[in-house]
Amino acid sequence: MFSTLKAMPADPILGLLSQYRDDPRHEKIDLGVGVYKDVLGNTPILDCVKTAEQRRTATETTKVYIGPAGSSDFNRLIAELAFGEQHPTLNAGRIRSVSTPGGTGALRVAADFIKRCRPGATVWVSDPTWANHSGLFEAAGLKVERYPYYDYATKALKFDEMLAKLNTLGENDVVLLHACCHNPSGQDLSKEQWDQVVQVAVKRGFTPLIDMAYQGFGDGVEEDAYGVRKMAAAVEDMLLCSSCSKNFGLYRERIGACSIIANSSAAADVALSVLLYVVRCLYSMPPAHGAALVETILGDNQLKQQWLDELKVMRDRINGNRAILVERLKAIGVERDFSFIARQKGMFSFLGVSPEQVEQLKQEFGIYMVDSSRISIAGISDSNVDYLAKSIAKVLQG
Ligand code: LMR
Repeated sequence: MFSTLKAMPADPILGLLSQYRDDPRHEKIDLGVGVYKDVLGNTPILDCVKTAEQRRTATETTKVYIGPAGSSDFNRLIAELAFGEQHPTLNAGRIRSVSTPGGTGALRVAADFIKRCRPGATVWVSDPTWANHSGLFEAAGLKVERYPYYDYATKALKFDEMLAKLNTLGENDVVLLHACCHNPSGQDLSKEQWDQVVQVAVKRGFTPLIDMAYQGFGDGVEEDAYGVRKMAAAVEDMLLCSSCSKNFGLYRERIGACSIIANSSAAADVALSVLLYVVRCLYSMPPAHGAALVETILGDNQLKQQWLDELKVMRDRINGNRAILVERLKAIGVERDFSFIARQKGMFSFLGVSPEQVEQLKQEFGIYMVDSSRISIAGISDSNVDYLAKSIAKVLQG
């Protein structure tokens, strides 16, 4: 049976991990996978997470099955974090959440849920989007299409084109939007643009699915939820996929959440029963450890404040890296305008060089990024930014 298989190509993002690891060069730089790194290039465990783990170890009494929904405390707290504690949909009992194995798990649950709601639905993703989005929805048997989003020439949004496309969609369509820190472009919708997208969603009746993998990495936890909260207050049905990988640094614990908003509490109960069925068929129930840590942090005012402070350090460092790269490129005489990098948000931007130049940066200089020239800004540091800027300059000279 297996002899007919054809090998799959390496994952465009995760494949870089092993290539970078195997590169013996001392000056190599990892701008590939989206993980936060500190000034020393490490991805540390947050202090609030360490404290939560100690508490957890001291108080945990069982490892018995947690059930398909995961932890109810985690589910409540993660929904409050995303929507805000006083959101009208929460007060109306229209939201149901399940814990999932990471944000990817949340997306796959959402995909299977959509397939059950509307088997013929088309999922519209931004052009470009995270490399795994299409595969996740196609794996659930859904059709995937793209709406215009990022203009590689102007390094800005193709907002008019995006809106024009969304204005042609309807009830059979699901539109995937990035809550903040657009992956891969770093180019986010402004508040005014969110307002317009919300109006179109209401007018056309498509279902928004918002992917929130970086809450707190853009402008702040509250600020980054603007679009989620605005959309949730306006539409009848919506899905939200949250991830705790980046903002809690819980990458390998695999913890996220899939939340649905239905048009009534009774409809939300029915939708939850379908979500739970989907979960049971996919992986039965989620891992519990990451959820326990997040609920310990969010459920304790002091620990929550510590988390917000640690998140701010990560956010400020990434924004600082953006500014410093732009400044160094300019300082060494690179004429091309890279100022867009400082304007964009979150973990990623496109450097805007060709696939050949990406390859040259890897082969000649040991600088790793996704083929699209997406760079993970957190991989930049005071100790490598000069080498990075000089290498980019050499590659641009041809
Ligand atoms: C990324 O885009 O680099 C991250 O979301 C990690 C991943 O799973 O691709």
